[in-house]
Amino acid sequence: MTLRQIIHLPEPILRKKAKPVTEFNKELQTLIDDMFETMREAPGVGLAAPQINLPMQLAVVEYLENEAEDEDLEEGAPEPKKKQYVIINPEIVKKSEEMVMGIEGCLSIPGVIGEVERHEWIQVKGLNRHGKPVKHKVEGWTARIFQHEIDHLFGVLFTDKAVRIWKPEEEEEETPLD
Ligand code: NI
Repeated sequence: MTLRQIIHLPEPILRKKAKPVTEFNKELQTLIDDMFETMREAPGVGLAAPQINLPMQLAVVEYLENEAEDEDLEEGAPEPKKKQYVIINPEIVKKSEEMVMGIEGCLSIPGVIGEVERHEWIQVKGLNRHGKPVKHKVEGWTARIFQHEIDHLFGVLFTDKAVRIWKPEEEEEETPLD
């Protein structure tokens, strides 16, 4: 596997609408594996193809289910489950009216984090890595990651939507999403 280089603002590709994926060949499988690897190395919980300079409607998401609230994991608590998604040509078909505020960062905008309002849950139609139609209903933290990644595929960045943006204090835990 090969680590891909993550690009930063003001690279213009980060501001463009990505093109649908139409070929589900071996190259695509390698690219997806490389994206997971690049995301883990960063580290982040998601990565969209435009962030590695590819204008494709493709993103990966991976995190441990209890990661977001693991402060009070006790002995005997269930092992965190690894959640993994490949998002291709996504379309948000349903979304909650309820919005939730949360903190986000972006691997393509280093050094700042911000508070962003997102739908509490969304339903997404898309394709899996082999081109088969899939539907995901995701909520909470997962829904936030999905919305951040899908925005990337349309040239939208979290800083466009943030109600407040700041440089994280050293002791303030950085919350890089992707
Ligand atoms: Ni991002």
